[in-house]
Amino acid sequence: MTHIGVLTAGGDCPGLNAAIRGVVVRATAAGLTVSGVENGWQGLMEGRVRPMGRDDVRGILTRGGTILGTSRTDPYVHGSGLASLLPTLAETGIDAVVVIGGDGSLRTAARLGGEGLSVVGVPKTIDNDIGMTDVSFGFETAVQIVTDAIDRLTTTAEAHNRIMVIEVMGRQSGWIATHAGLAGGAEAILVPETAYDLEDLARRLVARHEAGSAYSVVVVAEGVPGPDGGPVTAGKDARGFERLGGVGNVIGVELERITGFETRVMVLGHLQRGGTPTAFDRVLATRFGIRAAEAVIEGDFGMMVACHGTEMTLVPLSESVTEPRSVPQSRLDETGWFGV
Ligand code: F6P
Repeated sequence: MTHIGVLTAGGDCPGLNAAIRGVVVRATAAGLTVSGVENGWQGLMEGRVRPMGRDDVRGILTRGGTILGTSRTDPYVHGSGLASLLPTLAETGIDAVVVIGGDGSLRTAARLGGEGLSVVGVPKTIDNDIGMTDVSFGFETAVQIVTDAIDRLTTTAEAHNRIMVIEVMGRQSGWIATHAGLAGGAEAILVPETAYDLEDLARRLVARHEAGSAYSVVVVAEGVPGPDGGPVTAGKDARGFERLGGVGNVIGVELERITGFETRVMVLGHLQRGGTPTAFDRVLATRFGIRAAEAVIEGDFGMMVACHGTEMTLVPLSESVTEPRSVPQSRLDETGWFGV
């Protein structure tokens, strides 16, 4: 009988618990055994595995984070690849792994799959940057959180005749910035997909204020380069991976200097990932989890569950993780109609 080990890896995002629930409910209904692996790949390396049944996933739909814990531990970077997972697999009898992860974790899954691990991937990330799927869960919730923040920051900016710079997550893609900026009516949206001209933006903001507007909102994706063209980073994390963050502060200082308008900067950070998922993300994550369990039942390994239109489908894991999915030019053009 197939025994699934389900794990969540990489940065957390709203909807992880709904996806875990989807896997557990669908797989156990088909008579499969399911175990939860704690803290991502690290749990498979260290033997941290616990049985999971229907009762273990009750009441978790609304919870943010992940009941299994997560980490950025990578068996190829912090262990000896597939070999470091074999003792746990042998001991527990886990013979199929469902990995709920972002691009890094899915790339690892693809590599392990190439070496013989029976693996199915589920794309999760607020960044929405995973290839071959129209959307990943967590994104919609993050966009809603950022939109709410823009709404609030707009009123305080307006009260003071200020420019408000809002830095959002997204790594090398501008999905969150683009969608939340559009939803919140931002005056400018800076994304890694397009170069920006700060002097020109400053001129347009000054013209807007001189024409009577009492505020401007500028949304900046964390992956945008600084005005000097170089990346702005916040050091390395505990696992040695580079952290992005801080470009909003640099741009805010420059905009204030050039425009002469008082400018404030808000880095939204992990607020964007915390708390309960939207109904949309709960449904999406549940459907991803169900489809992942069905892929295992059908023996479709080395695949990632993808959402195409409104349908759940499977795509080869190796093809989905080749490069980050950027915001297409057509979407950027649409937002372009509303800027200063
Ligand atoms: O990939 C998701 C993400 O939230 C990015 O948008 C962000 O750059 C990164 O994770 C932050 O990671 P950490 O939780 O390690 O600070």
